[in-house]
Amino acid sequence: MTNLAIWASGTGSNAQAIIDHFHNNSKIKVALILSNRKSAGVLTKAAEASIQSVHFSKLAIQENEGVLKLHRELKIDAIILAGFLLKIPLYIINAYPDQILNIHPALLPKYGGKGMYGHHVHPAVYNNKDSDSGITIHLVNEKYDDGKILFQASTELDLDDQPEIIGRKVLELEHYYYPKIIEAFVENVLE
Ligand code: GAR
Repeated sequence: MTNLAIWASGTGSNAQAIIDHFHNNSKIKVALILSNRKSAGVLTKAAEASIQSVHFSKLAIQENEGVLKLHRELKIDAIILAGFLLKIPLYIINAYPDQILNIHPALLPKYGGKGMYGHHVHPAVYNNKDSDSGITIHLVNEKYDDGKILFQASTELDLDDQPEIIGRKVLELEHYYYPKIIEAFVENVLE
């Protein structure tokens, strides 16, 4: 059994797509949901799916107050970032080398780096009148949005697509592809 931990800061619509995808999977299990925000929607989604969840403050995550211990107890094999908006501390990257995946709502290296996350991305794409946008799934290293790219998919944009529309098109791609890419990664790289 490969055990996944999902880390998320917000709504958790990607987390939900991943939970649904691996529901009843005999080889891959979402074993933990971690959030840095107590009121994050993703924690409710975890409860509804009867998945163990935990809240750690930003400081507790940075200072390793039990985060790694819990991951070891639950035999977590890989960490899946799904809208997790804090930087991943080095001790986590060292404990899970090439075993942390992130999804970014743009075609990296465009629209990446510090401050360029979540709802900040789509207005920037809109203002630049780009003809497409998309998603990037990549490994996590010590820099923001810099690890090896595993997968990208794009969607065409109309010039009058407002940031909300761009966001909706991109999120649709995220929900469709992220669970499939995670599954392929587990089968081809981790197993
Ligand atoms: C997603 O669009 C994800 O790509 C983005 O946050 C959103 C979370 O939505 N992540 C980043 O910007 C990371 N740099 P969700 O909570 O509904 O899954």
